Order: sequence, then C-alpha cells, then structure tokens
Amino acid sequence: MKKILVTGGCGFIGSAFVRLTVQRGFKIVVVDCLDYAGDFERICQVKSRICFYKTDICNRSKIESIFRKEKPSLVINFAAQTHVDRSIKDPLVFTNTNVVGTQVLLDTCRKINTLERFVQISTDEVYGDILEGEFNETFALNPSSPYSASKASADLLIKAYIRTFQIPAIIIRPCNNYGPWQYPEKFIPRAILYLMLNRKVQVYAQGKNIREWLFVDDCAEGILEIALKAKIGEVYNLGSGFEAQNIEVVRKILSLMDKDQSDIEFVRDRPGHDFRYKLNTDKVRREIGWQAKVSFEDGLKQTIIWCKEHKNWLVKKYQNIERFYQRCYGR
Ligand SMILES: NC(=O)c1ccc[n+]([C@@H]2O[C@H](COP(=O)([O-])OP(=O)(O)OC[C@H]3O[C@@H](n4cnc5c(N)ncnc54)[C@H](O)[C@@H]3O)[C@@H](O)[C@H]2O)c1
Repeated sequence: MKKILVTGGCGFIGSAFVRLTVQRGFKIVVVDCLDYAGDFERICQVKSRICFYKTDICNRSKIESIFRKEKPSLVINFAAQTHVDRSIKDPLVFTNTNVVGTQVLLDTCRKINTLERFVQISTDEVYGDILEGEFNETFALNPSSPYSASKASADLLIKAYIRTFQIPAIIIRPCNNYGPWQYPEKFIPRAILYLMLNRKVQVYAQGKNIREWLFVDDCAEGILEIALKAKIGEVYNLGSGFEAQNIEVVRKILSLMDKDQSDIEFVRDRPGHDFRYKLNTDKVRREIGWQAKVSFEDGLKQTIIWCKEHKNWLVKKYQNIERFYQRCYGR
C-alpha cells in the first residue's frame, strides 16, 4: 500500500482523511505543529497505526529530514491557518503557513524523487464571490480576505512549480465543510455550541450570505479519489451542490435543537464578507466519478449528535474563541 504524508492531519478535514485512509490500509505519516486549531485527540483512535511528527511545515530542515526518512509516495497538504476572521486581525500568520509553508513543502518535493504526487488542499474562496452561476476550475482567482489571498497565492506558486520544475502536483478546491471534530470557531459548530450553552447564535448582518456545504467524510473520500486518480497538473473543485443562506442553516439547527428565532443575535458584518460561493463540479464527477453522498439534513443531524456527545471537547475550545472575539470584535 502507498505511504501518504498528511500535513495538518490533526485538523478538522485532515483528521477525517487520516481516519479514512488508515481504515483503507494506507501507511500514514502525519505532520502537524498542533497550533490552537490542531488536536491529536481527533486521530487518537488510529494512533497505533500512524507515524506522527509534531513539526511546523515552515521548518525547512525538519521537513526535509522527515521526507528523506519516510519517503512518501503522496503528500497531501491540509496544514493551514483557516479562520477568515483571524486573518483579518493577523494576516502575516496566514502568509507564513499558507504561502511560505507550502513553498517549503514544494521545495522539499523537488529534492525527493520518490514522490508521485503532491496534493494541495485549496478552497473555493480563492475565486472570490459569485452572485449568480457557478465557478469552474478555469475562473480567474479573485480572493477577498487575507485568508483566501494566502490560499490563492499558494495555488499560483504550485502552478508555477508544475510548469517550471515539473512538480507532480494537483490542486483541490473544496467548498465549506462541516461535521464532527470541527473547531467551534467555525459557523456550524459554534452555533450548536452556543445553543448547548443557552447562548444566542451570532449571525453576520442579516444572514443572507450563501455558502455551499459539504459533509467532511464526503470531502475526505473525494480528496482520496482525486489523489489516486487525477492527472498531474489539474485543478478540481469539490462541492456538494447544496447551497443555503446562513440564516437558513441557523433556522435548521434551531429546529433540530428545539430552539426558536429568539435564540438568534444579528451582529455587525465581517469586513469584505463574500456574498456567495458556488462550485461547478462537472469535472470531478466526469473524470474521477466522485459525488457527495451525505445530504445536508443527514450531515447536520450527525453533527448535532456528535456535538452533544462531545460537549466537553467543544467547551474546552470555547474560552479561546471567547478571548479572540472579545479582544478583536468586542463581543
Ligand atoms: N474547513 C473548511 O470548510 C475548508 C473548506 C475548503 C478548504 N479548506 C482547506 O482545507 C484545509 C484543512 O482545513 P481544516 O478546516 O481542517 O483546518 P483546521 O484549522 O481545522 O486544521 C488545520 C491544521 O493545520 C495545522 N497547522 C497549522 N499551521 C501549521 C504549520 N505551520 N505547520 C504544521 N501544521 C500546521 C493545525 O495544527 C491544524 O491541525 C486547509 O488548507 C483549508 O484551507 C477548508
């Protein structure tokens, strides 16, 4: 079985990918610096079957020695700073990990000749927003936040490395993910956590912004399929086709948790807030044969059940989130 090196494997999507690939029999090496959003507990159930390095992807010499020792066939780069609100307050951290960190990995890949593929986990946010229609993979990158700008920069760097150095890379652009183990500063788990704590759910502006939602296990499966089957140099959108206004998502959560409209608090909009994202996924369906399996209704029910069963884990993160929003946004 192939050896896969997973960066950011203690994060939300990376850990779902690690659990999936261990179960499928792949040899897995995880590299993660365990920053505030990383947690080894997410992959604790498979810890005896993986090799783990607590390492920053920006650390060139350590990354090179791990690559030389482990000789992976595939590298999947999930490691990133991921929260848009934090990127507005502290953009440089995002440039360091998301751009420089990616470049360190690419430079290391150039030196290691065992590597078959380097897979970059990008985001739908690199396209900016779209009021009508869908983005396909040929659209120009037009990011709005420091987060999406750093991810778009990494995509451009990868394209340049493919062309100039023949790096065997693939770029995957998933839409918004949700599901078990998501850090509760993100929209859906934060709403569920606040309701469990009898607090109001905070919704930006009037909640009209639209996102496309993909269940995390579907995303992990899609990434594995693409990593194994895709042509080198290609870009793939990974979306579910399910889009909803933020307020509709909150109303769904309220009804599944027996709460009502009075549990909503509308707060000042995020600066530069993208209005709508929507991916065209014809390419991944046609070339890879992947499509999402979990409906939003089922995924959300599973997520709420998981959050209730892991309330202590979520509450442990709550202090950190409170501190951030208090310090930066006064709420
Ligand atoms: N969550 C989403 O909805 C979504 C949607 C589209 C794309 N993405 C992309 O998917 C990837 C994973 O997202 P996520 O939601 O799982 O993120 P996450 O914030 O939950 O996890 C990120 C992980 O990367 C690790 N990390 C951060 N900086 C690092 C560094 N310098 N060196 C090593 N490890 C580092 C963290 O410790 C953490 O474990 C990211 O690249 C993100 O841009 C996420």
